Amino acid sequence: MASNLKEPAPGTPQGGRRLPRTAVIGAGGYLGRHLLAAYQRVYPDTLGVDVVGPWTHLLDLAAPDIRPLKLRESGYEYAIISAAVTGLARCEQDKDYTRARNVTGTLELARQLTGEGVIPVFFSTDNVFDGREGGYTDEAPTSPVNEYGAQKAEMERRLPEVTRGRYLIPRLGKVFGLIRGDRTLLDEMAERLSRGQEVAAARDQIFCPVLVGDVVWAVLGLQEVGATGLFNVCAPEVWSRFDLALALAQALGVDPALVKGISLDDLKEPFRRTKRGDLRCRRLRAALNLEFQPMAACIAAVAKSYREGGL
Ligand SMILES: NC(=O)c1ccc[n+]([C@@H]2O[C@H](COP(=O)([O-])OP(=O)(O)OC[C@H]3O[C@@H](n4cnc5c(N)ncnc54)[C@H](OP(=O)(O)O)[C@@H]3O)[C@@H](O)[C@H]2O)c1
Repeated sequence: MASNLKEPAPGTPQGGRRLPRTAVIGAGGYLGRHLLAAYQRVYPDTLGVDVVGPWTHLLDLAAPDIRPLKLRESGYEYAIISAAVTGLARCEQDKDYTRARNVTGTLELARQLTGEGVIPVFFSTDNVFDGREGGYTDEAPTSPVNEYGAQKAEMERRLPEVTRGRYLIPRLGKVFGLIRGDRTLLDEMAERLSRGQEVAAARDQIFCPVLVGDVVWAVLGLQEVGATGLFNVCAPEVWSRFDLALALAQALGVDPALVKGISLDDLKEPFRRTKRGDLRCRRLRAALNLEFQPMAACIAAVAKSYREGGL
């Protein structure tokens, strides 16, 4: 089974500080699951909550109430907010519904956490940029071109005041995993290619994808050094979706002609996507000594899991 090439090693402080106790709100989601598992390796009883599911407590961003979680009295210093109504199309179609949860409700949640002395960790995205130039630094002014990006940009703007400066915002590139069937970036392409199906991949979608294990590693590392503020978090390699798909086709040993180069404009979606979302992670590099997994190794791992499972 392909797993993270490099497992995060929580409890191995990079900055000489122990890992603070951290609750995970949105623990059933993609990032939340991985973060909860990492914290539970150090603190097996780490609290996870979500809007539905098998959790002791449920929390709805539409009307958050953290009192039943008893965070402060249980020794929690941080809370991951990986809960959100995600998806560009969803945010575009349901602006009021998503904004009520992703902005208004999330700010209220952050306000309550701050009131208990708990530091919120909120995830932003490269979609806060219009994507004309790319190479965005941590400090680059935001300029969203879709509702998802606008909601995230508003959170970036308002969270510092609501939390009185005690917050952490990892601003992520596209997050992916290596597990067959995880429906993330490489897996979705490998699934189609391995069946001999075409993959339409935009030549003009340029980004810095980041392995989920590396995101976990970065978040825990930033907590361990006591960092606050906003940090771009992505791998240093800049890829187009087309080049990724082509490299994957080659690694799978399938006909590269299955990869059709398109433009994002060809998708004719009723909203714009950020074309160049590549980020520069200066603050992260200054704070932590992180090595991101090379994309070639990630592509090889996904291709291997598909080849071993039979094409
Ligand atoms: N994954 C990426 O590539 C990426 C990149 C940049 C930023 N981010 C951000 O990182 C965060 C986590 O992303 P993700 O990929 O883990 O998303 P995800 O898999 O969609 O997880 C979001 C979680 O929030 C829950 N949720 C939905 N509505 C809720 C509500 N009203 N109250 C409480 N919880 C609710 C979801 O539950 P249900 O499944 O039951 O709806 C799900 O468990 C999001 O803020 C996302 O925008 C992700």
